[in-house]
This record gives sequence, C-alpha cells and structure tokens, in this order.
Amino acid sequence: MTETADHRDSYPPTAAFAAAANADATLYQRAQTDRDAFWAEQADRLQWHRPFDRVLDWSAAPVAKWFVGGTLNVAYNCVDRHVLDGHGDQIAIQWEGEPGDSRAITYAELLAEVCRAANYLTELGLRAGDRVAVYMPMVPEAIISMLACARLGLTHSVVFAGFSPTALRQRVDDAGARLIITTDGQWRRGTATPLKAAVDEALSGDPSTVEHVLVVRRTGIEVPWTQHRDLWWHDTVEHATPEHEAQPFDAEHPLFILYTSGTTGKPKGILHTTGGYLTQTSYTHHIVFDHKPGQDIYWCTADIGWITGHSYIVYGPLSNRATQVVYEGTPNFPDEHRHWQIIEKYGVTLYYTAPTLVRTFMKWGREIPAAHDLTSLRLLGSVGEPINPEAWRWYREVIGAHRTPIVDTWWQTETGAIMISPLPGVTTTKPGAAMTPLPGISARVVDEDGKPVQKAETDADSPDRSAVVGYLVLDQPWPAMLRGIWGDTERFHETYWTRFAEQGWYFAGDGATLDTDGDLWILGRIDDVMNVSGHRISTAEVESALVGHSGVAEAAVVGATDATTGQGIVAFVILTAETENTGTELVDELKAEVTKQISPIARPRQIHIVPELPKTRSGKIMRRLLRDIAEGRELGDTSTLVDPKVFEAIRTGKA
Ligand code: WTA
Repeated sequence: MTETADHRDSYPPTAAFAAAANADATLYQRAQTDRDAFWAEQADRLQWHRPFDRVLDWSAAPVAKWFVGGTLNVAYNCVDRHVLDGHGDQIAIQWEGEPGDSRAITYAELLAEVCRAANYLTELGLRAGDRVAVYMPMVPEAIISMLACARLGLTHSVVFAGFSPTALRQRVDDAGARLIITTDGQWRRGTATPLKAAVDEALSGDPSTVEHVLVVRRTGIEVPWTQHRDLWWHDTVEHATPEHEAQPFDAEHPLFILYTSGTTGKPKGILHTTGGYLTQTSYTHHIVFDHKPGQDIYWCTADIGWITGHSYIVYGPLSNRATQVVYEGTPNFPDEHRHWQIIEKYGVTLYYTAPTLVRTFMKWGREIPAAHDLTSLRLLGSVGEPINPEAWRWYREVIGAHRTPIVDTWWQTETGAIMISPLPGVTTTKPGAAMTPLPGISARVVDEDGKPVQKAETDADSPDRSAVVGYLVLDQPWPAMLRGIWGDTERFHETYWTRFAEQGWYFAGDGATLDTDGDLWILGRIDDVMNVSGHRISTAEVESALVGHSGVAEAAVVGATDATTGQGIVAFVILTAETENTGTELVDELKAEVTKQISPIARPRQIHIVPELPKTRSGKIMRRLLRDIAEGRELGDTSTLVDPKVFEAIRTGKA
C-alpha cells in the first residue's frame, strides 16, 4: 500500500483566505445554540412572498415541514430578483458547447427565456402540481426548462440523457409525467447522436400519461415526428411573450422528483420541496464554495441529470447570483486539455468535480494541466465518492498549485444539499477526510446498537480503520431533506428510518470512521448500492437487467474496487439449461442487455459465467465472497455457506 491516510497530514487555511472567507468559525457555535434561529437566518437569504410562521414542524416525523406558512417562488429567487436588483447584465450562464460553439446568457436574458417557456407551458394546459420529465443534454434550455417548471409549480423529473428508453419510460410512468422536454440529438465526441428517437421508443407500446413532447433543436439531425404530440421549441416557446409574473408557492410545494438507485431493482423517486431545499442549497453554495457574486467564475462539472447538477448548477448558484460555466461535453474531447482550456478561457475561480475525474487526470499526466494558466483557481471541490488521499494531494498540488483549499463534500440525492464538508477559510483539512458536519447539520458514527464508535488512530502506522467502522446517521432533520419517495411511503420509512427507528435517525447507507481528532472519514456505501464514477447503481437493478435476458437463470452483481472509477461492476451469471455458452459472444450480448435496460453507465466491466452461486443457509447470495473473487483476494470465512465446494466451481468456471 503506497497510500496513507495520515490525520497529522493537514492543511490549515491561509490567513489571506480566512480574512475574506464567507464562512467563519462562530457559525458552528451559533447553530448549536439555537438551531431554529440559525436556519431562519439562512432562510432570510431568500426573498419570501409571505414570511414563514415557524421554522420547523417535526411532528409528523420523518416527513418534515420547514418554514411553515411561508410562500415563495423558486425561479423568482434564482432569476427575477437579481434583475430587479440591477444585475440584469451580469452573465448567469457561460455555456460552452462540445463542438466549440458558445453562448453567454445574462440574468436579463435568462429571465426572458424562462418567462417564455413558462408562458408556453401554461398555454399547453400544464398546472401547478403536474409532472414534467426533462430528458436533455447539457444545453441552456435544460436549465431554462427546470426553472420554468419551478416558476409554475410544476414538479420536474430530470432523467439523465444517458439513460435508455426503458429506463426513461419507467421513470415517466412512475411520476405520471404529462410532458417530456428533450432535444433532437446530442453531441457525443464530435458526433450527433439521436435523443428524441429514444423518447419515441420509450413512448411506443402501451399508452402513457405523456401528452406532448417538446423538442429543442440542438444537433440538426433528422427526427421522426408524431403529429399533434410533438412540438418544436423554436416554433412554440420562442414565440411566447417574455413577460410572466411569478406566483408564490407554499414552502412545502413539491419542486422536483429525482430518481436514484436503491437496494432493490426499482429506482426511487426522491421528492424535494421548495423553501427548505432552496435555503440549504443557497446557504451551502455560499459558505462551502466561498462564492462571491459578481466576482467568481464558478464551474461544477456535473450533469443536470444528477442531484449535483440540480443543487450546484441550477438552484444553489443561481439563487446566489453566480456567473457559471456550463459545459456540454466530455473532458477529453477534442483532447485531454479541454477542462484546463475552459478554465483558462473563462478564468474559472471555483471548480467542483468528482474524484473519478481527478484520478483520470492523474492517469493522463500532470503535463496536460501544466500547459495551462490555472492561476485563476482559488478553490477546488470534490463530490460523489470518497476521494483517496493520493488523489486529494495531486488535486491540490497539480491543479491548485499547493495553494487552494479543497472541499470534500459529502451528501446524497436524499439530503438535497451538502451535509459534511470542511469550511474554506476555517477548517484545517486532511487529505481524504470530509471532516465535520456543516453548521446547522448534525451527524453521528454509530455501531449496530446506535452507540458511538470509538475514535481511531488514522495514521501511517495503523492505516487499518476497519475495526472502528460505523454507520453514518443524521440525527437531526435538515431543511433540504427528502420529503418522501414518490408514491411509496412504506419504502421511504423502510429504507431510511427503520434501522435506527428507536432513535429516530436517518440511516445514510454509508460507512464512516472518526479519527482521534473527532474528524469524519467517509468510507462509502455499506449496502448493495455500487458507486461507479460517482454514479449510484444498485446491484439489484443490474441483476434484474441480466435476468431479463432469456439465457440467464440467475445473476449476482458486485462492485469491485477499481483504481479509476472507484468501483467497477462485476457480474456472475448462471445460464439456463438450454443456453449454450458461446463465451465472448454471449458476454457481449449480456453487456448489451444491461445497456439497453438501464444505461451504458451500468454496463458490467466483467461477466463471469458460473455453474453456481455461493449462498447462505437462508438462501442469500454471499456478495462479500463474490467481491473477494472479483478483486482476486484470498477468500474470507465461508463457514455459513451451504456448500463451500460452490466456490471451487465458481473459481474454475470463471471466464
Ligand atoms: C457517496 C451525490 C464519500 C456516498 C451527491 C453517498 C461520497 C452517495 C461523497 C450519494 C464524499 C457522495 N465522500 N462518499 N464526499 N459524496 N458520496 O445520491 O456513498 O448520487 O451515499 O449523491 O455518494 O450519491 P448521490
């Protein structure tokens, strides 16, 4: 092991950064002294139409009501008020298209576009509470669509444009969407690939709740057309009037649903509401990124199809009047210099990305970023999976010139906003540690019984923290917390609130440790959810896609450690008696099946065709053992297996 996690390897903030920082150390104390008053103060960052009467109503726990009685309009807070405050000419979105085209959109222009879209959606007969699916690449119209929905109280459900027609249909049906907004196609490494066609495929077959498909022309590729159902954005939205008066909605009005993977095959529609969500995304974007409106150029490299795109491209930054870069393409198109060129071109000051990308940059070599002037950068962020100490140090040294603070931010689709992170200018950071819950947030690391785990010595001499690994729980409600799983109250309770029901704590699904200073280290998922390049994929979801292939009798999927993507998907399948094992041919077919059912991101790295699977006496597949095999480790304890011989069979049957 070349890497060490040493809790004495630490990076205090510079005096200069601390002097000008948005955050200060007193916030922790203030939040602790009076939580409600603290959150009320953060809510005052927003413009409320009607002020709230009460900060938190937790009487119907675990469904929280935040800012009770308050009303506001999210789009008004993200756009209109900045224009009314005299910042209409400030650039909101500095958009960079993959082929090299670009567009600068000011707040005044953004307002006009959002109003046009809102007027047209109203004309289509959509009303507050209706659901709208957004299935789009990273084009400005995707953000405009989300804001137009928010403006009208329509609940958006953004579906990542990499998802297959089957996955889209599943989500559209679950939400009962009346409209899908999409594009004709999307740019993928210099080639225009169809997207609207995927919507057509999704909607073929059984009738759905979808009445219209609104299509933005992005690539100019030819698209099939269904009269009356399909509408061009440029024929409709662009002709609508650019004036629209935003109506206020209740603080608990549903803002969006976002599907994420859980421990069963069916994705969960995580529900977020209005006032608490916007308060916490705005507050965290302000203090965690030290964002200064009118000065910083902010860039979050996520896709709007994920929660990071919702909270830290759309709602957090825009509510804080950010000027931000939005990039359509991949980091290595046309070559590996693309991100650094963009940073240089726009003078990006705050850069937020995922560890998997940092590790990819490491692989490409430091001479690539070294060829660019990155001196504009003053803060770097990380999200999506644990960042290993080596990647952390490389990020700070090579990209941050030994100078920039790094914020390793832990949160989830369910938490809605950042929960655990250093505060730049305040926290002395350690490579690989998410450090401490933010002011106003409370977390614990506990054992099975809810007792605090002991603190561990996390230094080079004893890098093994496994002895004191605990469960990460959130023991107090927070404003941006999920309000439920769309249409499935029971699953909401069972997934998050049953494990520590007695204490009433939220179970995050992650393992963590505390070091001797009391700082938190997140270790990643401890349930059957995999994390591949920062994307959450459930083992059950991939298993059911594999079993969907007629040749497969049974499948077991595990996430195996991968040096670049964090985890890689490894599948073990048993074929039906009639199926001939054609080796690579069959394996390729099975991989294609997963792509078709879910998305290329869920495509297994390896598929092993095996005669049997290891099971416990109660019939549960022993994934831990499969993981050992997938990672080529010595096999652990197999004593609870029905028949330990199964292992030999698996190992020798390994493709
Ligand atoms: C993982 C993404 C370690 C974690 C915002 C969590 C992290 C899951 C970190 C949520 C981090 C996210 N350190 N692990 N800084 N950030 N995770 O819903 O396992 O796509 O439970 O939200 O990502 O993934 P999700």
